[in-house]
Amino acid sequence: MLRILLVLVVAAVIIDQNQALENGLARTPPMGWLAWERFRCNTDCKNDPDNCISDQLFRTMTDIVVSEGYAAVGYEYINIDDCWLEKERDFNGQLVADRQRFPYGMKSLANYVHSKGLKFGIYEDYGNYTCAGYPGVLGYLENDAALFASWDVDYVKLDGCYAHPSEMDQGYPEFGFHLNQTGRAMIYSCSWPVYQIYAGMQPNFSSIIQHCNLWRNFDDIQDSWSSVESIIDYYGNNQDVIVPNAGPGHWNDPDMLIVGNFGLSYEQSKTQMAIWAILAAPLLMSVDLRTIRPEYKAILQNKKIIEVDQDPLGIQGRRIYKHKGIEIWARPITPTYQNYYSYAIAFLNRRTDGTPSDVSVTLKELGLQYPGGYRVEDLYEDVDYGVLTPQTKIKVKVNPSGVVILRCDLQSEDVYASNRYSQYAPLNQVYGKSRHNSFK
Ligand SMILES: *[C@@H]1O[C@H](CO)[C@@H](O)[C@H](O)[C@H]1NC(C)=O
Ligand SMILES: *[C@@H]1O[C@H](CO)[C@@H](O)[C@H](O)[C@H]1NC(C)=O
Ligand SMILES: *[C@@H]1O[C@H](CO)[C@@H](O)[C@H](O)[C@H]1NC(C)=O
Repeated sequence: MLRILLVLVVAAVIIDQNQALENGLARTPPMGWLAWERFRCNTDCKNDPDNCISDQLFRTMTDIVVSEGYAAVGYEYINIDDCWLEKERDFNGQLVADRQRFPYGMKSLANYVHSKGLKFGIYEDYGNYTCAGYPGVLGYLENDAALFASWDVDYVKLDGCYAHPSEMDQGYPEFGFHLNQTGRAMIYSCSWPVYQIYAGMQPNFSSIIQHCNLWRNFDDIQDSWSSVESIIDYYGNNQDVIVPNAGPGHWNDPDMLIVGNFGLSYEQSKTQMAIWAILAAPLLMSVDLRTIRPEYKAILQNKKIIEVDQDPLGIQGRRIYKHKGIEIWARPITPTYQNYYSYAIAFLNRRTDGTPSDVSVTLKELGLQYPGGYRVEDLYEDVDYGVLTPQTKIKVKVNPSGVVILRCDLQSEDVYASNRYSQYAPLNQVYGKSRHNSFK
């Protein structure tokens, strides 16, 4: 039987929360639907009216998010990405939505989204052009922020094509300042660090968390398992730098959920959802909700995993073990008691040798030491293991490119008797580096 020995060295790294962006938004990672990964820059409404970037597409997705139960589990933002604009500003220098594809304008679309109880997100670029070549905000920062506010936009994703990465330290905060000055609270999603990393610069994360609600660290997701794996590896390999930056109001964004598209198997889709929850990632579905198969919809609507993602402590999880294709990821969550946390634990099997792998471990070896024990539950299989002590050995079977995700809740009368959260906020980070020992 495989055995794991893990030693977690606990070191508190506390970010001064006063230094983080405080616009009252994104207290938990934003959830919603975002067009890009699935619908890209399809502007051919003539030949492909149902799939082009258009008013109709966003109204349809809005309707389905509500009617098919996505809104009920927390998906809230309907977000446009690139390719919504006319190629030129108008004679007043204003951005104009494509007149054919968005014939009623953005304010009308925002009103529609709001009328369904949802929120409306838009896309622009800190540069001369968007990535697809539409007008960027450079030279019009104040003007465009005011325009978005006048359209009742709730969320702005600001990309970084056709811009100088060295100017972003000044430019992203400047646009954020203008968003703030409008008086309308808008989530601010930045691509600032990823473009600087591409340019070989070291992003200033203390400035980034001061100015952005979320930000992209790494490559755009593509519709493939290798893309998902590369993102998981990036977040694991760079976790000491990345993880401490997450917290209520400011999140790392590993990019969209591609669950339900063409590239991931059922197991791989479960893996993406589980690891994104461990990462405290924004949950932005990019999928055709008209045709998604029920088993993938069920993954996206898994309330127990969404609850992990949306945990109020907002502590991003980490990879605590990696050996021979088996990884273990852990995220501290509520309820807490004294210095103890509850945890979500994901066992990930990266092996491709075609048969499920057994992983056997005691809770204590995972760093779960509370003497009163933990109530352990499987979040996909609906298995309740009951209350286990730290010495109990658990054994899970993890499918190739699949995952088992457990929730381990501290089990104590005191936990429920006390005020569950307030005394622990704003703890940001409880892990230090973990040591990776091998299977014995
Ligand atoms: C944006 O356009 C201005 C004016 O043409 C130019 O000076 C600047 O270098 C351009 N910026 C980038 C990043 O290309
Ligand atoms: C603007 O910034 C101030 C100071 O951080 C904050 O209190 C306020 O809520 C912000 N307003 C908006 C609309 O974002
Ligand atoms: C990073 O940004 C902070 C806050 O804006 C600033 O005080 C600090 O000097 C910057 N650090 C570097 C290395 O530029």
